[in-house]
Amino acid sequence: MNLILMGLPGAGKGTQAEKIVEKYQIPHISTGDMFRSAIKDGTELGKKAKSFMDQGELVPDEVTIGIVRERLSKSDCQNGYLLDGFPRTIAQADALEGLLQELNAPLQFVLHVDVPQEKLVDRLTGRRICPDCGATYHVIFNPPKVEGKCDHDGAELIQREDDRPETVSKRLEVNVKQAQPLLDFYHDKGYLVKVDGDQDIKQVFEDIDQKLQTLE
Ligand code: AP5
Ligand code: ZN
Repeated sequence: MNLILMGLPGAGKGTQAEKIVEKYQIPHISTGDMFRSAIKDGTELGKKAKSFMDQGELVPDEVTIGIVRERLSKSDCQNGYLLDGFPRTIAQADALEGLLQELNAPLQFVLHVDVPQEKLVDRLTGRRICPDCGATYHVIFNPPKVEGKCDHDGAELIQREDDRPETVSKRLEVNVKQAQPLLDFYHDKGYLVKVDGDQDIKQVFEDIDQKLQTLE
């Protein structure tokens, strides 16, 4: 299955992506995760991305397109992929079209996880992540079994640098501006499938799964 998962920051892309890739056994390609891991490893890519991410801005297109090109070219993407958080600009969407053509891996669906904007600030500021395995929690909506500790490995949960309230509003502003033209782009091409992301996590996944099965 060849998919893109779209939605504003905090809409639940990462949360749903984990479930989709587990069920459909396809690689999860999250540009945000790739940048965070590069920052953690102190690579050149990480250094380039960090200043943009910390300010809630988008990383420049040429950098982002470059890492996606490299990742999609790996052999494990031949039987499917889930792109999460990419593309985020029309330039990225154009570049992706060319790339998928080159790789002979045509897109099937663009799932849009739709959540009213006013719900997103609470989702983002309450998010906690595991620095070791990357698992995502929420202090109220998806708490770990033991407060502050990862369910999988017991690591101390942390807040993402860009989930602090001062950065969250900038991220939302930047992403809202980019979102509609991209939704229109994929709607016009007939790929767009909307999912109501303003329900509990399990229900959102059931809806996604049902749509994927009927559309396949
Ligand atoms: P990225 O990591 O992609 O961040 P984002 O798009 O801002 O999305 P998030 O990860 O914040 O949210 P999500 O939708 O995955 O929500 P989640 O499932 O965690 O990008 C980070 C940065 O990298 C960008 O700002 C940019 O600088 C750079 N970047 C990345 N891609 C780029 C690109 N293509 N071009 C340029 N720059 C790029 O859920 C959020 C919280 O809500 C969690 O706590 C979760 O537990 C909870 N939750 C989830 N679902 C529900 C639900 N149904 N009900 C209640 N709570 C829920
Ligand atoms: Zn963990």
